This record gives sequence, C-alpha cells and structure tokens, in this order.
Amino acid sequence: MIARDVSVYYGDKRALDSVSIDITQENVTAFIGPSGCGKSTFLRTLNRMNDTIANARVEGKIELDGEDIYSSGMDVVQLRARVGMVFQKPNPFPKSIYENVAYGPRIHGLAGSKGDLDGIVEQSLKRAGLWEEVKDRLDESGTALSGGQQQRLCIARAIAVDPEVILMDEPCSALDPIATAKIEDLINELRGRYAIVIVTHNMQQAARVSQRTAFFHLGNLVEYGDTSEIFTNPRAERTKDYITGRYG
Ligand SMILES: Nc1ncnc2c1ncn2[C@@H]1O[C@H](COP(=O)(O)OP(=O)(O)OP(=O)(O)O)[C@@H](O)[C@H]1O
Ligand SMILES: [Mg+2]
Repeated sequence: MIARDVSVYYGDKRALDSVSIDITQENVTAFIGPSGCGKSTFLRTLNRMNDTIANARVEGKIELDGEDIYSSGMDVVQLRARVGMVFQKPNPFPKSIYENVAYGPRIHGLAGSKGDLDGIVEQSLKRAGLWEEVKDRLDESGTALSGGQQQRLCIARAIAVDPEVILMDEPCSALDPIATAKIEDLINELRGRYAIVIVTHNMQQAARVSQRTAFFHLGNLVEYGDTSEIFTNPRAERTKDYITGRYG
C-alpha cells in the first residue's frame, strides 16, 4: 500500500498531518508512538474504517496495488476483505467457531460447495495456529474461547477471505505473555504471505516482530525505516526520546 500526504480531521481538529508511507508485503511494519499521536487513525484510513466515524474526513491519496481506495468506484466491503483488521479487544461474532471463519468466504462467494468452505475454514484456522485446539469443537461458540484463542480466531477470520493486507491495532494488549508469544510467532509465520501492519506500545514487541518501524508523534510520521536502525540509530531526536522511554 502507498499513502501520500494523508491528513485526517475530526471536525476542525487535525489528527494526522500529511503522512506518506509505503507498506510492502515482504515486511511486518510496526507503528509506534505515544498515545493520541494518530496510529489508530492512520490504520483506519488504510481500509476506510474512518468512513464509519461521522465527523472524520480524510485527505490525500491511498493506493492498494495502484488502485485509489478512496475512488468512487471502490467497493468498500470488498476493500475491507482485501485489507483486514484485527482489534485490541478480540471481537468474535456470537456464533460458532466454524461460522466465525466461514462467514466472510460465504458472503464473498469464495466457496463453491460445502466441501470448499470446510477446506477454507480448516486452512485458515491452521494458518492462524488454532486448528489443533479447536478441530473437535467447531460447533462451540467463538466467544467461549480464551482471549488468546479468540484473537487467533479473529486472525483466522481475516485470513479466510484471502486478504492482501492485515492491520492489527494493539492485538496483544489484552493478552497474557504466553498468548502474546503465540500471536508474535503467528505474525512471523504469516510474514511475506500478507503485508502486516501492527500498532504496538511495546517496544520489545516492535523489535521482535517487525522489519520496518514508523514512529508517529502529534499526528506526524516522524521517522520510518528499518526496525534495527530505528531502535539502534534513530535519526530524529523525538524518536530517540520515545524509544529510550523519555516520554509517552
Ligand atoms: N472518533 C474520534 N473523534 C474525535 N477525535 C478523535 C476520534 N478518534 C481519535 N480522535 C483524536 O485523534 C487523535 C489521534 O487519536 P488515535 O486514536 O489515532 O491515537 P493513537 O495513536 O491510536 O493512540 P493510542 O495509542 O492511545 O491508541 C487524538 O487526539 C484523538 O483524541
Ligand atoms: Mg490507538
């Protein structure tokens, strides 16, 4: 995905100021920065979730595979399948584990038969590292799983519609360290197959899972580069202050 001069306003208030970034499929990209700097706001522009916020207005250009995602011809439902999102709080549907994963492929017509759909559900749950834990209880409610399992179910749900990009907004902040480690392993395994963007407040996590890091501050993208560079040799004083814990 390519963003050029993207600004976001909530009413008169500008929350994001002219952000330009290239997000590639080969890498996991981490968005870091203090609370309120615009990370979630920017993430939401990438699959037009801001459309659902009444007073939000987006300026600038965002392309997915060369296609302007804000053009009038863009099918937003289709876009949100191509650019999936995983939230801070796991939000499975109050339906069975099977239905949580099958729902998207069914409404997008990705399965020709029940057998096809079963196959997609199994493969998505396998990719999300959840299959072994749930294969004998697919009819049970998704909400009955543990928090970490629910988050992997949400990742399986995103994967099931064959996305190009997966956006994760603090996906581990409600999870214990073991569940967090599982999600981090999963992100490593999914790298390369999908472009992955993860928002995190955990510097160690950013260093562990990402190859590229973007540091945001007060609505600006201050610095964007290789994660190892950002953490060992930041160019901007503000980045250095943040990663050394001086503020935020
Ligand atoms: N729906 C909204 N209406 C009005 N202002 C908003 C809305 N959502 C976010 N903002 C404002 O936009 C700015 C950026 O918020 P955003 O949620 O993107 O920050 P963030 O970097 O994700 O923070 P955090 O790390 O706390 O999640 C903040 O000043 C916030 O108050
Ligand atoms: Mg946020």
